[in-house]
Amino acid sequence: MTGTTMIGVIGGSGLYEIDGLENASWQRVETPWGDPSDEILTGTLGGVPMAFLPRHGRGHVWSPSTVPYRANIDALKRLGVTDIFSVSACGSFRENMAPGDFVIVDQFIDRTIAREKSFFGPGCVAHVSVAHPTCERLGAHAAAAAREAGANVHEGGTYLAMEGPQFSTLAESKLYRDVWGCDVIGMTNMPEAKLAREAEICYASVAMVTDYDSWHPDHGEVDISEIIATLGANVAHARDLVAALPGRLGGERDLCNHGCDRALDHAIMTAPGA
Ligand code: ADE
Repeated sequence: MTGTTMIGVIGGSGLYEIDGLENASWQRVETPWGDPSDEILTGTLGGVPMAFLPRHGRGHVWSPSTVPYRANIDALKRLGVTDIFSVSACGSFRENMAPGDFVIVDQFIDRTIAREKSFFGPGCVAHVSVAHPTCERLGAHAAAAAREAGANVHEGGTYLAMEGPQFSTLAESKLYRDVWGCDVIGMTNMPEAKLAREAEICYASVAMVTDYDSWHPDHGEVDISEIIATLGANVAHARDLVAALPGRLGGERDLCNHGCDRALDHAIMTAPGA
């Protein structure tokens, strides 16, 4: 046993709080990377400590490119979060991954270009592995909890992280789908997943399909009103998924069998005291 589990949930569009949290309070957390997207809602659910951060801020004020990803992950770490469930909306490149479905992402292609992606840099150089960028154990819990919540779940999928804020052109959509073999597309999971690994926090990505991006011949272009309507119709599944997490993960924890919690053990290049 290595300590106590604290579950962090980063909520995307449509998910702005956790239901039923006991002793709930919004906390301001300062970090060397600036302020996180918003105050963080902390409390307990079924006796398990939880922290909830709305990725875009309450009122949806941060665009995907301006979300303070480093401050967000650092603030969750400072609160003691051991396991992050990242909830976000995504477009689908697969006919069978239909709007309303949940995809438990396990791979990424990171095409973001305008974001700070590391806690390390001049003074302390480190290179962590992100060959397997999500935690298999957490992903399995997320899939089971989503199924219990009544969602149609796809376990595993490659997420194309794009910069945005515009959606993809038709040519990009076809490239990502037909040539690169991606399953879903979104604007927020990177560098979030990479930073969680640098912070040695287990990370699972729950991507809620809201549209078919622009490749699908029978569906029109992506439309934000369609996205919001689909999110609204399925946010209950996301809320039920979150409510099921404490029962699955709470209490004392073992070392992560995937090694997420020890990612820095062999990653730092800079000599001590250099
Ligand atoms: N988020 C939801 N749908 C999306 C899409 N088609 N592309 C990028 N991000 C999205």
